[in-house]
Amino acid sequence: MSAPDPQQMREAMSRFATGVAIVTTTLRGRDHAMTAGSIASVSLDPPLVLVCIRLDGGLHDPLLESGIWGLSVLSAKGRATASWLATPGRPLLGQLERVPHHRGVSGVALIDDALVTLECRTTAAYPGGDHTIVVGEVIDWEPGERPEDPLIHYRSQYWSPR
Ligand SMILES: Cc1cc2nc3c(=O)[nH]c(=O)nc-3n(C[C@H](O)[C@H](O)[C@H](O)COP(=O)(O)O)c2cc1C
Repeated sequence: MSAPDPQQMREAMSRFATGVAIVTTTLRGRDHAMTAGSIASVSLDPPLVLVCIRLDGGLHDPLLESGIWGLSVLSAKGRATASWLATPGRPLLGQLERVPHHRGVSGVALIDDALVTLECRTTAAYPGGDHTIVVGEVIDWEPGERPEDPLIHYRSQYWSPR
């Protein structure tokens, strides 16, 4: 038996290609945002999704406190946004200043030109090691207007089909 250490675990799971989304929440008038790939569809009826959020990341506590969050699935054009919103130590204030976005019905920020946006209300949160597994009911969604290629994350790099 050979359990992976954290670096090996990152390397192992980097071989599972994922899409890339921006998770957003708003608490006391402040926007919080983070790039995420650990996202899954959980249930169709009711519509549930999950996202795994690092315990020590800046988004963790505000997202759990607010209970309302957005998911914006990025197209291939969202590479710079994904890199920026995965940068440790970026300032909280103004982190969406240069990221084109709009407001959903719940008031959360949603990234413009996403492949799809979802707005969710937390229904459960489970401990998951150094992450919390947050399950949310989808309360609103918008498909992107134009068909675009997806942004893909694979082996620690961004890819797009073309
Ligand atoms: C492609 C990609 C996917 C990521 N997926 C997640 C994720 O699902 N959950 C998570 O907590 N962090 C994820 N991260 C890491 C966070 O984006 C990053 O730790 C965070 O934005 C750093 O800022 P912070 O220190 O303010 O939290 C991912 C990063 C990248 C580049």
